[in-house]
This record gives sequence, structure tokens and C-alpha cells, in this order.
Amino acid sequence: LLLREHLSGDEVIVVSNREPYIHQRNEDGTIRVQRPASGLVTAVEPVMRACSGTWVAHGSGSADADVVDARSRVRVPPIPEGGEPLHDAYTLRRVWLSAEEERGYYYGFANEGLWPLCHIAHVRPVFREEDWQQYRAVNARFADAVADEARTDNPVVLVQDYHFALLPRMLRARLPRATIITFWHIPWPNPESFGICPWAREILEGMLGSTILGFHTPYHCQNFMATVDRFLEARITQEDQSVSFMGQRTQVRDYPISIPWHPPADDALSRAQADQSALREAMGLSPEHRLAIGVDRLDYTKGIVERMLAVERLLDRHPMWLGRFSLVQIAAPTRSSLEAYSALDHRVREEARRINAWAAERAPGTPPPIILLIEQHDSESVRRHYRACEIAMVTSLHDGMNLVAKEYVAARETGDGVLILSRFAGAASELHEALVVNPYHIEETADALAKALTMHPAEQRERMRAMRTRLADFNIYRWAGRMLLDAADERQRARVQDRIV
Ligand code: G6P
Repeated sequence: LLLREHLSGDEVIVVSNREPYIHQRNEDGTIRVQRPASGLVTAVEPVMRACSGTWVAHGSGSADADVVDARSRVRVPPIPEGGEPLHDAYTLRRVWLSAEEERGYYYGFANEGLWPLCHIAHVRPVFREEDWQQYRAVNARFADAVADEARTDNPVVLVQDYHFALLPRMLRARLPRATIITFWHIPWPNPESFGICPWAREILEGMLGSTILGFHTPYHCQNFMATVDRFLEARITQEDQSVSFMGQRTQVRDYPISIPWHPPADDALSRAQADQSALREAMGLSPEHRLAIGVDRLDYTKGIVERMLAVERLLDRHPMWLGRFSLVQIAAPTRSSLEAYSALDHRVREEARRINAWAAERAPGTPPPIILLIEQHDSESVRRHYRACEIAMVTSLHDGMNLVAKEYVAARETGDGVLILSRFAGAASELHEALVVNPYHIEETADALAKALTMHPAEQRERMRAMRTRLADFNIYRWAGRMLLDAADERQRARVQDRIV
């Protein structure tokens, strides 16, 4: 409601690489709609519905699946089967990319260049001139699509993530009066690290076309400002955290992303007990078997190998847990055509096999310590795993925020459970009551596991209560809300200035 008031009549356009709904054609000609489990969609969709906005994204379903107009537009959310069309729907405008564009812009520059550049996980970024050209060209195509969709000359445009570093300035050229809010969902490194990008200046100039530039943590904001200071002749004002460059003033702010929050269900306890038994039964484990859960995309930033090594170290140091404790690791395949990802897939399977064989030698005939599930899980299945496992391991080597940490806390409606959390995930700056570890230090993570396995229920509850209170207060709607309120302030300022001029 507050949002509706603050955005009264304003036009809102969102740009993201992934689309909020993917329409696929089944073999019999019917259409199947998938909604990816994404924090971004949960956060932004209510805003889009409230103002009947437009979402511009890279089309990834079957191009001819739904009825699209000449501009590749469709109304979403999809009409429920046999149901009435929703009156508060919004427009999805897809930008279709050729295989060459996708290779250069998405796989190449975004995921082999910027992703390893911004995540310090010691995977070397690859910079290819032809990827950069495609990245620029695709950013320009999105800028054209936004300008084409804009009904007014001053829309609020929400640009999402590292796929679109150049878009803000390109949009500024096309729509000088727009309020452009760019949110960078991944970390921002220090100037030395960022400086190896051959196009560091162009990226910064591109981003500084924004009115507001958001990161998850104050630390990433500082790194960004230090990088600007190193590479551009810009005016930086520390007091209000702004950068003025090429006639544009950009506010640099932290907006920690979060998750939806629901008060505990009445049947929380019985549901959790049912999930605990069901998972153990399905895996052939005894009801007393202790479980930790890991849920990640199969990405080298997530520290999955280090996590498994910590399990091995725990069992080596405390053999009493052999055959009595396992890590269930859900790893969703992602960007698999890239070499770094296929190599990781291989390494993760290999380590799991090695550790399980090692444990089998010591405790023959007992359940394996690593239960590796390399597959996609829908969000309900993931929540069932959270409820069934009394420990969560989020040991990313580097992460902008990491929503798994927050989702686990939110799912523990019974108030118990232990979260082991990497200090290099943005979430660690909010979830202090987790067992915070350096994931590179295998002993430290193994110690945290040992502590989690023996933590008194009263201590678990105390830690969980503090984390749950914080999440209940700062949920996903506050994330989008704060950005839009800051945008509304900026628009108000601009209106006053227009009047003075
Ligand atoms: C990260 C990025 C997102 C991205 C997601 C999934 O969270 O910040 O922008 O959408 O990973 O990656 P994918 O490459 O599959 O879209």
C-alpha cells in the first residue's frame, strides 16, 4: 500500500537477465509455465502488479509458446487454468538473443569475466574482446527495448545485476529524466582486483548512469566507491555516499536482500516431525540419524568441496559420528557448458565418492557421510529438507548475500536448528548468531560442525530466536520498499529542482 502511494502513477520497468515466467510448449501443443524459485521474482513481482509495470528479460522458453505480439510481449502472471485473468497483471517483454549473443554476453563476459572477477574464489576471470563486444551490443538491445516500452519520459527503471553494467548509462542517453535504480546482486571487490578487467572504466561509467546504485552490504559500497576513486575523475561525497560523474549524481547505498516472512504455522511441530521421519525413511536412515543440509547452485563460489572436506575432518577427529551423521548436499546444475563448472561437477562427485569410501572402510555397512544430490529441487522440496535437517551448512567462499542462510532460518518454525555460515557471505553481517566460519579453514568448519552436533537445545533456540526476529523485521518487501522510497525521494528532489530552474 505504502508503495502504491509513493509510486502514485509512476511507470515502473524492471530489467533482468532471467525472466519471471518461462513458457514452454509441450509436445501436445499445450503450454507449460515454470516459475523459477527466485528471490528477485518474489521481491519485485508485487511491485510490478501494484503499478501494472513492464518486466524486460532475456527470453529463454520456446519462442512461439505463448501468443506474443510483434514486440514479444505477454501479460503475466499466467492465467490459472480455467480461471479469470488477473486484473493486476503486468507486461513481460522478452528480448530474444542469438546463440552468438548469448555465448558472448551471458556465458562469456558475464559468467567467465565479471562473475569470477567480483567473487574472490580464486578462479581466474577470462576476458575476451569478442565477449565484451557482445556484452555491449546486448546491453544496447535491452536499452532499446526499455526505451521502446517506456510510456512516459521519466519511468522508474530497476536494473538487476552484473549482466547489465552498461545499461544504466545507455538508458540515461535514451531517457534522460528516468530514475534508474541498479542493484548489483554479487559482491564488489577491491580496486586492485577489479582493475584487472580491461574495461574497468567503461563498466564504472556505465553503472554511474544510475540514480541509485545498490549493493547488499556497506562493505561492497565502500569497495565500489574506492574503485571509482581509483579509475575515474569523479566527485565522491562520503557524507551522503554519492558519486558525481558526467553530469549524473549517483547515490551508492546498501540494501540487504531478504526473503518473504510468514509467522509459524499452527501445525509447525507435527509438520517438522513428519518431514524429519520422511526424509530419513526415504534415505534408508535410522530415525536418530543426524543430518546437515547444504543447498546451492553447483557453483565454485559456494565452497561445496571445502564443506565436504570439513565433514571428513569431523569424522576423522570424532569417529563417534561415523555412520551416525551425514551431510545432504543438494547441488543444482548451472552454467554447465562452461569449463569451470563441468570441472567442479567432476571434483564434487569425486570427493563425495572418496570420502564415502574412506568412511566405509572405517565403519563398514553404515550410511555414507555425504549424500550428494546433483539435481534441481523445487522450493517446497527444499523447505522440507530444511525442516528435516537440524544443521545447515552455508560455507560459500564468497557471496553477495546468500539467501539459503535466511531461508533455513525462516523454515525452522519450531525454533531449533543450527546455522553454520561463512564469514564471506553477505548474510554474515546480519546473522551474527550463526556459527560463523572461515570456509577455507577446514578445521574451523569441522569444529563448528562438532559444536552444532552437540549444541544444547536451549542455546539453539536462543540463537535462532535472534535471527528469526531480525528476518521477520527486515523481509523481502522491505528490500524493494526501501529502494523505491529512496527513488521517490530523489524524484521529489528532481521535481523541486525543475521548478526552481
Ligand atoms: C546469482 C546471480 C543472478 C543469477 C543467479 C542464477 O544469484 O546474482 O543474477 O540469476 O545467480 O544464475 P543463472 O546464471 O542461472 O541465472
